[in-house]
Amino acid sequence: MYDKVVESTKYIKDKITKFNPKVAVILGSGLGNLVDVLEDKEYIDYKDIPNFPQSTVEGHEGRLVFGKIKGIDVLAMQGRFHYYEGYTMKEVTYPVYVMQQLGIQKLIVTNACGGINTDFKPGTLMLIKDFINLFGDNPLIGVNDKRFGVRFPDMSEPYKLELIDKAKSIADEINVEYKEGIYAGFMGPYYETAAEIVSIGRQGADAVGMSTVPETIAANYLGIDVLGIACITNMATGIQKHKHSHARVVETAEKASANLCAWVAKIIENIE
Ligand code: HPA
Repeated sequence: MYDKVVESTKYIKDKITKFNPKVAVILGSGLGNLVDVLEDKEYIDYKDIPNFPQSTVEGHEGRLVFGKIKGIDVLAMQGRFHYYEGYTMKEVTYPVYVMQQLGIQKLIVTNACGGINTDFKPGTLMLIKDFINLFGDNPLIGVNDKRFGVRFPDMSEPYKLELIDKAKSIADEINVEYKEGIYAGFMGPYYETAAEIVSIGRQGADAVGMSTVPETIAANYLGIDVLGIACITNMATGIQKHKHSHARVVETAEKASANLCAWVAKIIENIE
């Protein structure tokens, strides 16, 4: 895998010479318009990068976007890979391995998810304090390659406290409302059963979604600091009365994305 990652990285570095980002953002469903805030953009489609997996979900574009926010170089992933698409955990997190080789030090992960905590409502932005991995799998299984990271990585601060504190003070400064909570990553692709939501809530989760956990695990392993922001697009099964709809999830995420984008942009401006 190391050689593949190096080959992908080389392709990207050869194409993108104007940027040397230390910060990356993964954009969740309906949250892709953070890219509109970026200046002087350059794009690379996933399909053009050697060894890169391809995106299949509606509402997910598959490309890397390089750009600047207030003079700071940023790499955005527009479209991510989900376990439920049939990718292995290594494929899901492949871009994060490439990020490490590109020199990324901080990663902001966003997602659309279901609220379990009844203090939340659709549109709530939740700073992720910690995760629960319900995938029954993770990207670090297998022979360890020390060039990436250690065999038994620490996971006591999966979302860097320093970044959480920074995100909070910026939210207060620009008047963005937020909550905090624990994100449970569920395999999907079906929306959980009501019984599963009761169980996941008892385990301590405030929100549940089908992404973010694999990338967070890989980033921690790779020595990249992570900040996670979840957009609650619906209440989880059994809490909301109506049935789930992907279209509504995307619509709610799009509505919340103005706030999320302003917040993330300001965090990036102040990240060092
Ligand atoms: N569950 C899992 N994933 C989701 C949800 C949900 O309720 N909403 C958006 N992504």
